[in-house]
Amino acid sequence: MPDVRLRDITTDEDRAVALELRVAPSQEAFVSGVAESFDDALRYPAARARYWSVHDGDEMVGFTMISDGIPEDVLEADPTLLGPFYLWRLLIDQRHQRRGYGTATLDAVVEYVRSRGAAALLTSYTTGEGSPGPFYERYGFVPTGDIVEDEVVLLLDLARS
Ligand SMILES: CC(C)(COP(=O)(O)OP(=O)(O)OC[C@H]1O[C@@H](n2cnc3c(N)ncnc32)[C@H](O)[C@@H]1OP(=O)(O)O)[C@@H](O)C(=O)NCCC(=O)NCCS
Repeated sequence: MPDVRLRDITTDEDRAVALELRVAPSQEAFVSGVAESFDDALRYPAARARYWSVHDGDEMVGFTMISDGIPEDVLEADPTLLGPFYLWRLLIDQRHQRRGYGTATLDAVVEYVRSRGAAALLTSYTTGEGSPGPFYERYGFVPTGDIVEDEVVLLLDLARS
């Protein structure tokens, strides 16, 4: 299992480097890219985005973004916000996939949200050939039964995993 580190993206240079990350063309239907993630983080302040680039040593291998502890009153006011801690984006560059980086990134995100007091981590995905559904379920995420904006909602119970 590779050892990955989540690194805050704070400078324009960090941003420019992260924008070079690419998934395979066939995967683009399943995830928005880094540029759209930066836009979304600004456009939806209520969602409390926090994002990082993912590194193995000096090599940048991916990007992830979460909702980092949305307060209860904000959640109640907006039904599109699924829960306080939500895995909003996860992508591993196509050159680095299937080497355990996605799983190691989930481990790092879980460690972070646990440190923030999360009891669960939610995510959602678009179905179709090559979707990340099996990846998430293999990790321990379980479908909640909800479909929101055509996406299957999954929950990782942090008390159990
Ligand atoms: C999904 C994703 C993050 C997985 O990252 P990864 O580094 O390739 O994952 P890992 O190497 O840790 O994979 C662990 C296991 O998950 C499963 N898996 C990974 N990607 C999968 C996929 N696309 N479909 C089905 N199973 C998958 C495999 O069983 C794999 O084990 P194996 O290599 O022994 O077969 C990566 O494929 C990706 O960035 N996809 C495009 C973007 C995307 O869909 N992100 C999720 C948006 S909600």
